[in-house]
Amino acid sequence: MRFKALSKETIERIKAEFPKYPNRRSLTLPALRIAQEDIGYVSEPAMIDIAELLDLTPIQVYEVATFYSQYNMKPVGKYLIQVCKTLSCSLVGAIPIIEYIQKKLEIAIGETSEDGFFTLKVVECLAACGSAPMMQINDRYYEQLTPEKVDQILSDLKTNGKSDLATGPFMLPVLQG
Ligand code: FES
Repeated sequence: MRFKALSKETIERIKAEFPKYPNRRSLTLPALRIAQEDIGYVSEPAMIDIAELLDLTPIQVYEVATFYSQYNMKPVGKYLIQVCKTLSCSLVGAIPIIEYIQKKLEIAIGETSEDGFFTLKVVECLAACGSAPMMQINDRYYEQLTPEKVDQILSDLKTNGKSDLATGPFMLPVLQG
C-alpha cells in the first residue's frame, strides 16, 4: 500500500516496535505517539496509514486517538499548554488560571495564538494534584501556578525556549515505548 501521510522513517519507527508487543492492535498508542512526534499531530490520513500498518480499521484507530487527550487532532503551536481542570486543581484556582491564559493569549480553549507559539488545551488529572493548580507545556510540568508564574513561564518560553519554573519532565513510561 502507498502510505498517504506517514514518512518512510515514521513507518520504520512504528515497524521497529512490532516485536515488543503481543499483537499489532496493542501498538495503537505507541504508533499514534510516533506519528504525532513526527508530524506534530494525528491527521486523518495518518490514522488511515496506522490502521493499514496495524491491520485495523481506520475507525478503530480514530476511537483510540480521540479518547486520549495527549493526541492532537489538528496542528498545534510550538508550545502546547495543557491545564488540568480536575477537582484538586479546580479547588485551588485552575479555572481562573485557564481564563487568565485565554485572556492573555486572546484565544479560546483549543485555539492557537496568532503568533503560532501557544495552543491551549484543558485536560483531566495529570497526577500532580499535590501541587495544584498545574499545567503541562510540551513535556514539562509547571506547578502551583499563579498568574504571575504564567506570565513568567510564557515569556521565558517565547524568548529562551525554556523556563526555570519547570518542575520536571512529563513521564508516562507505558506510552514512551
Ligand atoms: S487534579 Fe490536577 S493534577 Fe490531579
